[in-house]
Amino acid sequence: MLSQRVTGLSVAATIAMAERAKALRNAGRDVISLSLGELDFDTPAHIVSAANDAAKRGFTRYTAADGAPIIKNAVIEKFARDNAIRFHEHEIHVAGGCKQVIYNALAATIDPGDEVVVFAPYWVSYVEQVTFCGGTPVIVPTTFESGFLPDRVSLERAMSSRTKWVIVNTPNNPSGAVYPPEVLKGIVETVAKHPSAMILSDEIYEHLAYDGVRHTTMWECAQGMRDRILTVNGVSKAYAMTGWRIGFAAGPSKLIEAMGKVQSQATGNPSSISQASAAVALTGDQSLIEDWRAELQERRDEMVRVLRLAPRLRVPDICGAFYAYVDVSGCIGARTMDGKVLETDFDVAEYFLDADVAVVPGEAFGMSPFVRVSFALDRARVGEACRRIVTACAQLSNS
Ligand SMILES: Cc1ncc(COP(=O)(O)O)c(C=O)c1O
Repeated sequence: MLSQRVTGLSVAATIAMAERAKALRNAGRDVISLSLGELDFDTPAHIVSAANDAAKRGFTRYTAADGAPIIKNAVIEKFARDNAIRFHEHEIHVAGGCKQVIYNALAATIDPGDEVVVFAPYWVSYVEQVTFCGGTPVIVPTTFESGFLPDRVSLERAMSSRTKWVIVNTPNNPSGAVYPPEVLKGIVETVAKHPSAMILSDEIYEHLAYDGVRHTTMWECAQGMRDRILTVNGVSKAYAMTGWRIGFAAGPSKLIEAMGKVQSQATGNPSSISQASAAVALTGDQSLIEDWRAELQERRDEMVRVLRLAPRLRVPDICGAFYAYVDVSGCIGARTMDGKVLETDFDVAEYFLDADVAVVPGEAFGMSPFVRVSFALDRARVGEACRRIVTACAQLSNS
């Protein structure tokens, strides 16, 4: 009954782990979930009111498939303000979340046999979407020691005449790395040697960089290559709007037009009400972002401070987004108090769940043995969850 393509598709491990944590909580356990991919803040009131206003004034019908002028102009304003780039309406695409934007881009460009370079650890959906669209993901690993930054030589080796895209994500989920301009320039120079390859730059965590580090947009580093860059972003993370489902992209008009075609046949258009609200988010008061960023930085500090007390774990510096990608190789081969030997990062995640903390095993992100822990929750709960992990690690013995 089902297609081969869909049977190869897996449910995102992040969602699966969040659901397990929820089930345990419903059964009465005080599980703290560090598996979350969204902020715990409420969508700001002025953005919520914009939805109400839009509905009342009858902005409730189909819009242009890839976004009404109201949201496209807001996106243009955002790029001009935050990134000093002037785009035009025909270079902007809006869809039901950044996830759908990326899907539209891949569906519009990938033919069987095309390859897409993805750096590991990676956000789970890149690889699933590429495969679903009939392409072949080519995984380029990074290392803990390099701060999970891509290495130019490895990228060069992974590219061929079949490479259609190189996907770049900075600030990065799950590693928390923020790519410095020289790394971005290295990527651009390498891709420039392959005329059929383009760069998809996922910058959805743009506003979440810490310690005064500034996010650099790929476009800024791509002189001479700008017609081969698709910059992808959205309102989910910056404005606590995950449920509203608005993402956007800016890129060459031919690609944007093709992405619009995909969207017009798949979903019609993103919700009109959400478009109106996202437009207010992008053009209204931006000061909230700075308050949230400061709060997240404190949560990050708490997480790093406590987790670095744990024996057997290596905790990297976290420069952006709201995740740490923790090396658990020191736990592999260790024995729990119940006599079980931990063999994979999945086992380590299960063991932490027994200690009432949900984390996501690194195998979901293509780099093991690691676990991803999120600090997108209340600081006291972050501290408590990390202390439970420290205790659990201290209770392991060498087998
Ligand atoms: C790196 C990355 N890109 C894209 C997305 C998708 O965001 P959206 O909610 O806009 O679909 C996420 C969400 O977790 C993400 O982590």
